[in-house]
Amino acid sequence: MCGIVGYNGDRKASEIVYRGLKKLEYRGYDSAGIATAGNPTVKVEKGEGTIDDVSPEKKDGTSGVGHTRWATHGGVNDTNAHPHRDCTGDIAVVHNGIINNYEELKEKLENRGHEFKSETDTEVIPHLLEEQLEDEKPLHEAAQNVADTIEGSYAVVAVLDTGELVAFKNESPLALGVADEEFFLASDVTPFLEHTDEAIFLEDGEVITLNGDYQIFQNGEEVDREPRKVDWDAEEACKEGHEHFMEKEIKEQPQTVKKAAFQDETDMKEAVKMVEDAETVYLTGCGTASFAASLGAKYLREADVEVVTEQSHELEYRTDEINEDDLVIAVSQSGETADLLSTLDDSPAPTLAVVNVVGSTLARQSEHTLFVNAGPEIGVASTKAFTAQIAVLKLVQYALQDELEEGRRSILETAEKLDEVLRKNEGLMDDISSYLQEKNHVFTIGRDKGHEMAQEAALKLKELSYIHVEGFPGGEFKHGNLALIEEGVPVISFLKDTGYEDAISNTLEAKSRGADIIGVGSEPVDKFRFFIEIPKDPNSEILEIVPFQMIAYLTSVKKGNDPDKPRNLAKSVTVK
Ligand code: G6P
Repeated sequence: MCGIVGYNGDRKASEIVYRGLKKLEYRGYDSAGIATAGNPTVKVEKGEGTIDDVSPEKKDGTSGVGHTRWATHGGVNDTNAHPHRDCTGDIAVVHNGIINNYEELKEKLENRGHEFKSETDTEVIPHLLEEQLEDEKPLHEAAQNVADTIEGSYAVVAVLDTGELVAFKNESPLALGVADEEFFLASDVTPFLEHTDEAIFLEDGEVITLNGDYQIFQNGEEVDREPRKVDWDAEEACKEGHEHFMEKEIKEQPQTVKKAAFQDETDMKEAVKMVEDAETVYLTGCGTASFAASLGAKYLREADVEVVTEQSHELEYRTDEINEDDLVIAVSQSGETADLLSTLDDSPAPTLAVVNVVGSTLARQSEHTLFVNAGPEIGVASTKAFTAQIAVLKLVQYALQDELEEGRRSILETAEKLDEVLRKNEGLMDDISSYLQEKNHVFTIGRDKGHEMAQEAALKLKELSYIHVEGFPGGEFKHGNLALIEEGVPVISFLKDTGYEDAISNTLEAKSRGADIIGVGSEPVDKFRFFIEIPKDPNSEILEIVPFQMIAYLTSVKKGNDPDKPRNLAKSVTVK
């Protein structure tokens, strides 16, 4: 995870890299730093916290690199912050990923006289590059040799005192933005969208050099790669007057759900064919996307499809059960989640991706992709990508039932109701968040699709408020978990049509042991302390989760947390 940015052009690199890093903080914000080339060596400013905590001076120099870190190897402190330098100080490197053989490399480099300052795996890279460049090899060849020496997942960008930039990657994303005599490197396109929408997504094993132009090499040979247009609008990646990205992203959902429903008919037909041709369909993802995958499995079962669903980091140990006549539907916002990608690597079946980020590794590696079209999601906690994923998976169900057009209309109608759900429940969501902020433990329950709602609501609330929240199937609650209920513990219950009576019983079982009960459903019940009323709707999951995204957001703000950057987390989890 970690975000990296590089710039080579004719403007002040420090300013452009700084702005770029602000857009990548969702990838980690333990520490940050910038290195700029020139006069006479590379200058590095770095430290613990976000790039604003480091508050780097805006140095001159028109080439530079920057980094915002989510710590893997080495604690969170100023020394371990990137960029890292070689012994001469002429090279500074930023890195996203993990170098598996760094201990062995570090020992060898130390024996050859190199001095290390940090505990990071990254620091071997500038020293390896230093040795290669001492031999006066061309930069791309030197970088290729370093790439051949290190093992693991990485996206690396180095800036040299000459102003040249060199980058290479394996299993971690890196995009090149191409403008008029200006070049940008970044972990995703958001840092450079305000400058250009022309991008090249680097492939594993490629080396790129930037020095007033770009050259891309594969196995030492230059390759011709043309930039292509990325259709994400720079405006969309701004807060547009909202206090936080998360608030903006929650409120955008009436539009994003509609965009998700506008899948191209040919794309949908291809997806339907893949599902129909498959012996077994596996649905997988991690975090919020895994709950979307699990809901998707229930939708597809309703269309008589044989489905298995499992979170990717667990499915990984069962890929020998998947065969080439099966299909894996991979659900992801970023399309870069390491556990998901490595499971797919081991799976012999074709992949249908349901993904948000255009140009992501998942999108590029899958046999077919349905983009959920939610636009850039910057808040670390996923919101609009989740409802867009549900909308697309539901649309696949409709299409399998030969009801694509009816399904699309139905989802558009659901999206229309979202504004009203947020507006009508504004006061209530505020009250619930004020009430929850005082609590230490919260439980969420639901039956059938209410179970995924309970899991996702629990995840939103815990990751933003840092309150201990657990989500259970309603029926499981009485098997041990009720022991945790005492006077005033909140239990949030998702009441769906399926299993309604039983879900009510599970909730009342908790209430009779002292729980404060909060309900969500289409028919208010007066025994509840709070009840969020949702209109009856065939795609009701989209409507039910949104108030809980908002409650989680409000609770986070009231507790003084940063909802866009919850502690210890990162949006794009590119390590295992
Ligand atoms: C991280 C994010 C979650 C996300 C999960 C999976 O944990 O904080 O919001 O659900 O990764 O990410 P993906 O990009 O694959 O949906």
